[in-house]
Amino acid sequence: MENELQKYFLGQDVPVSTEQIDSLFQSARKFSDILMMYQCAIREVRTKFEILNDDLALHNHRNPIEMIKSRVKKPQSIMEKLNRRGLELSVTSVLENLNDVAGIRVVCSFVDDIYKVAEMFTRQDDVSVLQIKDYIKNPKPNGYRSYHMIVEIPVFFADRKQPVKVEVQLRTIAMDFWASLEHGMKYKKDMPEAEEVIAELKSCADIIAATDLRMQAIRDRIHPEL
Ligand code: GTP
Ligand code: MG
Repeated sequence: MENELQKYFLGQDVPVSTEQIDSLFQSARKFSDILMMYQCAIREVRTKFEILNDDLALHNHRNPIEMIKSRVKKPQSIMEKLNRRGLELSVTSVLENLNDVAGIRVVCSFVDDIYKVAEMFTRQDDVSVLQIKDYIKNPKPNGYRSYHMIVEIPVFFADRKQPVKVEVQLRTIAMDFWASLEHGMKYKKDMPEAEEVIAELKSCADIIAATDLRMQAIRDRIHPEL
């Protein structure tokens, strides 16, 4: 049994002490504990956005949020990111160094909705904003647009209150369409058509952004009160 475990954990045949096995199990438990904690933080943040959407639907006859997607980063991606950045592979290091273990994407109908919803969310007194990157006002050179925030919210467990970081991305349906397709295109930077591909994707992003603004203008004409 001990032999099987040492192969399983360490992939080698060197003798492993009971203490070492205990410590590996302990680390595994701590790691699954924090993944659960990030999942809980996502539920808190998701609920906040759902409540905002329901309230605006009831009182303003608007549904600014089209869809909410979320994910907890996979253990393998967490390890890869720590490794890539030369950081310690430990639970403390994850908590201190990674901002995007918990991620939530809020897809809005119109560009204005993003700023309205973001403002209503960050005004809540249990939400601390740690960082904002506005890739709508300042698109990335490849044309990527979205409004990113790193926030910290308290999650209440049986015996403690734990502040947890969550990455929130807000974008329109159109921005989400572009980003989802672009994300899936694994073109090689050194392929002969790379420059053309990059220019073409950028052009699509700019057309989409212009269309978003036109749709916003139509909405404003039909419903100037909203
Ligand atoms: P990471 O270390 O990759 O998390 O990036 P960062 O700390 O520089 O943060 P940034 O806000 O630039 O990007 C974080 C997330 O935004 C990524 O994980 C993607 O989900 C999304 N993102 C950023 N740039 C792009 C892009 O060019 N294309 C697509 N499809 N998504 C992007
Ligand atoms: Mg990321």
